[in-house]
Amino acid sequence: MSTDAIVLLKDDHQTILKTFKDFQEAGPKAYKRKGDLVDRMISLLTVHTYLENEVMYPQVRELLPELEDDVLESYEEHHVADLLVMELVGMKPEAERFDAKTTVLIENVTHHIEEEEQEWFPKVREGLSRTQLQDIGAQMIEARKKAPTSPAQPSALKKTVDAVIK
Ligand SMILES: [Fe+2]
Ligand SMILES: [Fe+2]
Repeated sequence: MSTDAIVLLKDDHQTILKTFKDFQEAGPKAYKRKGDLVDRMISLLTVHTYLENEVMYPQVRELLPELEDDVLESYEEHHVADLLVMELVGMKPEAERFDAKTTVLIENVTHHIEEEEQEWFPKVREGLSRTQLQDIGAQMIEARKKAPTSPAQPSALKKTVDAVIK
């Protein structure tokens, strides 16, 4: 099995985008289904953000300093998504703003995923060797074992706090 970091992250993106599509196709009154889909989105996004924030971004920043601005922008985009996620956690699917807030989350994350896949990953692939990308991927597989699945867990919250105060 390939442990190429970009392949692993793209797999994650596909899974996340599928929950977005399912949400968009759910009917206006499909409260239970939309609630379940948002729960799933939140846990997928929490894990994915953890892997990128803790492994991918810092490693790339160190190995390819010329991509630092892209990494900093990514931290900010994840931070905005984190804020929306935290607001959605306690919200009931019947709430007036539930669909709107989820839609804004979906739009933000979709934009971020497109930027990663179309602009950032190609630069990273060009700058790093296959071995380096496999090594980063292997670290992500390890990190996934201890990744938070809920934004309420301290290791998930830490990055958000860091992003606010640093
Ligand atoms: Fe990202
Ligand atoms: Fe990503």
